[in-house]
Amino acid sequence: MADQKESFEAKDFGWMVAMSLLFFVLVAVGFWLEYSTDWGTYQRTFPGLLGHYGKVEEARNFRAGIRQIWIPQMGVTDRCVTCHLGYEWASVLPATIAEPLKPHPMNDWLAKHEFARFGCTPCHGGDGAATSVIGAHQGGRGWEDPMLSRALAARNGLTMNEMIQMRCNFCHRHDVATPGMEQINLAKQLFKKKKCLVCHVVEGRGGATGAELTYEGDRNPELLNFAHVRGERTMFNWNVQHLTQASVVSPGTQMPDFNFKPDESRALTLLLLSWRRLPYPPEYIPDPEVAAAAMQPSPTPTATPTPAATPPPH
Ligand code: HEC
Ligand code: HEC
Ligand code: HEC
Ligand code: HEC
Repeated sequence: MADQKESFEAKDFGWMVAMSLLFFVLVAVGFWLEYSTDWGTYQRTFPGLLGHYGKVEEARNFRAGIRQIWIPQMGVTDRCVTCHLGYEWASVLPATIAEPLKPHPMNDWLAKHEFARFGCTPCHGGDGAATSVIGAHQGGRGWEDPMLSRALAARNGLTMNEMIQMRCNFCHRHDVATPGMEQINLAKQLFKKKKCLVCHVVEGRGGATGAELTYEGDRNPELLNFAHVRGERTMFNWNVQHLTQASVVSPGTQMPDFNFKPDESRALTLLLLSWRRLPYPPEYIPDPEVAAAAMQPSPTPTATPTPAATPPPH
């Protein structure tokens, strides 16, 4: 009898050890999951940084966790700020802090786009809902809307700032020219100067020799013919080469070889890719008159009035 009881106890003891081990493993996994997030480290570092630059109160009130800018009317849920914690702290934190804690660059025109109202992805691309570096920067939904990183821009011969202008023009499409959008401004001039509308319809105007270009940026790259395109098989590359030498990319085409300089064909490609159907509501579409006024050089009080004899240039 006693022997049997002892053997039961031995068995129970075995179970106890097994269950404790399992419990321990589960707790360890829980901690590991918490600590192995891409954002955990940044969130543990950030309060110290705030404190170091004199924001002791804010540092004490900092609560760890996923953060987001949610703008339902734009379809934006941007968790970028879970890692990019310093974006609104330009007045406190120096610009020398490493990414992703560094404050966002600021200037007159960036200041017109309050982060709380515009989020991040409308300008940068990327997958706003993701909370890992790879997921957020490369986009979880394939490569449709990857973040326009420095590396991606460099692969296309552009700086990040230049490439982002494609997205600026999603909203600023109807501006003749916009401060901060030099590439797009150049492209808009070229589009007029080279009379692309003779053969292409854009927003109801133009000739029908070539395809309609109103929503050229929504075009499916899989339907393009890459047989005569050098390098990477991207929409960007196809357009740059087609604009320069249409006769090479589309043999037998009626489109002339424009022989643009590389920076011109890149700028025009940014413009074409910016022409997309947008889900943004009207309050997110700026008034072109405001940009036009902003492009005017500010009148200097010492400027001599133009003589009435010279008619304004047209
Ligand atoms: C999990 C943390 C994390 C999230 C989420 C995150 N980032 Fe980043 N981001 C980083 C880190 C780390 C760097 C610096 C290293 C690098 O470029 O990968 C960085 C760098 C960047 C850069 C500079 C890129 C370059 O090429 O120099 C931009 C722009 C950027 N992030 C935008 C975004 C946007 C937009 C989102 C949201 C869609 C986002 N990030 C979400 C961590 C994050
Ligand atoms: C109105 C457009 C716009 C919005 C909105 C915007 N950005 Fe940017 N961002 C830019 C531009 C343009 C640059 C490039 C500045 C440059 O290269 O001079 C930039 C640069 C960056 C960089 C790189 C900074 C550096 O100094 O290299 C990061 C990181 C970044 N943005 C993250 C974000 C995050 C996170 C958000 C959302 C909170 C956001 N941005 C919202 C336009 C925007
Ligand atoms: C999601 C739409 C959207 C995107 C993307 C966007 N803007 Fe704007 N932008 C606006 C709106 C709306 C205003 C008017 C803001 C206000 O005054 O309330 C504006 C204002 C401006 C202004 C002031 C002159 C004017 O037209 O009102 C400049 C300059 C400007 N944006 C440049 C840029 C640049 C450069 C980028 C890209 C880095 C950019 N914008 C990206 C919507 C956008
Ligand atoms: C003389 C007529 C003509 C002119 C001018 C012209 N194109 Fe074209 N374009 C065509 C024809 C025809 C095609 C279709 C065959 C091809 O792919 O080349 C075409 C194709 C295109 C395509 C591919 C469109 C698609 O969805 O298949 C783009 C983009 C384009 N043109 C842009 C431009 C731009 C930008 C200009 C001005 C710099 C311009 N075109 C001037 C005739 C013209």
